[in-house]
Amino acid sequence: MSVLSGKKVLLGITGGIAAYKTPLLVRALVKKGAEVKVVMTPSALDFVTPLTLSTLSQNPVLSSFTAEGNSDHPQWNNHVELALWADLFLIAPATSNTLSSMAQARCNNLLLACYLSAQCPVYIAPAMDLDMYAHPANLANMEKLVSFGNYIFPAQEGFLASGLEGKGRMMEPDDIVVSLEENLQAKAPLNGNTVLITAGPTHEAIDPVRFIGNHSSGKMGYALAEEAAILGANVILISGPTALSAAHHNITLVPVISAADMHAAVFNHYASVDIAIAAAAVADFKPITSANQKIKKQSGPPEIHLTSTVDILAQMGKEKQQQFLVGFALETENELENAKGKCLRKNLDAIVLNSLNDKDAGFGGSHNKITYIRKDDTFVDFDLKPKSAVSKDIFTQILNAL
Ligand code: CTP
Repeated sequence: MSVLSGKKVLLGITGGIAAYKTPLLVRALVKKGAEVKVVMTPSALDFVTPLTLSTLSQNPVLSSFTAEGNSDHPQWNNHVELALWADLFLIAPATSNTLSSMAQARCNNLLLACYLSAQCPVYIAPAMDLDMYAHPANLANMEKLVSFGNYIFPAQEGFLASGLEGKGRMMEPDDIVVSLEENLQAKAPLNGNTVLITAGPTHEAIDPVRFIGNHSSGKMGYALAEEAAILGANVILISGPTALSAAHHNITLVPVISAADMHAAVFNHYASVDIAIAAAAVADFKPITSANQKIKKQSGPPEIHLTSTVDILAQMGKEKQQQFLVGFALETENELENAKGKCLRKNLDAIVLNSLNDKDAGFGGSHNKITYIRKDDTFVDFDLKPKSAVSKDIFTQILNAL
């Protein structure tokens, strides 16, 4: 999954010939999972039609301060709302005229009004003839915009509409998308961090077809992996058997079956990770031996002797160096006290308590209601939420602590 997935992108199109490429840009952004809205300067309308752009973006395209069509009830196109809606504002192509207006805070069209109202990162892909691009006045404007924190995708060398050849072509739409992804990835709060997550149940074999397991669906661990990946981390997701899949390209899925497999997989990676979260419902007991062949019922119910599995999280706590270590606690009585005890015993930085006493929360379901307990015993209670939102809360807490 792309870092652009779910991002709200406001695309500003100005009146240069490169505007004819913007339908491809919209399509490439939408393909990456972004939601795209388009604003155009009036002169951009000469180069590309709003109908093409609204069809591809599946959103209305705006180019004036007032909504066209109904002169009896004029309506304002709210540039502030539009600018605040955006997670990022991409202006492509940006003409010399628009760059100059942006640098001077001029506001004679809707696109410029959006620019001046935007609170999100602004990316600019200039396009103009080579001498205009190289003119000191234009270079000074671009420098000024960079000093405002705007990001410029430099114009490319090549054949220009004037018939000349040189630097001035808008970066190609696919390259803009790749550069955007790289830039967003570099800015992500967990960029450069490795996060290890255990998820799902473990299955402890009785014979080749039977096992001891539990009702864990893995949804909480997978949601945490997804959130860590969105925040830019490289994620190692060590998962017991589940029906889930991990889509994000930052996630490496390591499938395991038993507690012993999970233990081995965890300690293949643990020494070098920055954050580790144990969300797996690891079986606490396993049969001492597992039969090589299916146990036949004619011989009557077998006696199964159990032994303890290794406590993976406790060992992670013992070997903890740089890792920020978070465990989960599933409790049915004395919840807070038991969870605090686990946090201390297993040498954790925090523990997430989920209670089986909360209706609609926990195992199997898509919601959870948690208490996040820090190692200093302070804690915060959260409402019942979808597991994706719970994951956001957990990472907000972790990022605060880091
Ligand atoms: N855990 C683990 N390895 C185990 C058992 C548990 O890594 N063999 C981890 C779980 O992933 C969870 C935490 O330990 O993060 C607590 O699990 P939980 O089942 O609540 O507690 P237990 O330690 O198993 O203790 P008890 O069953 O007595 O509550």
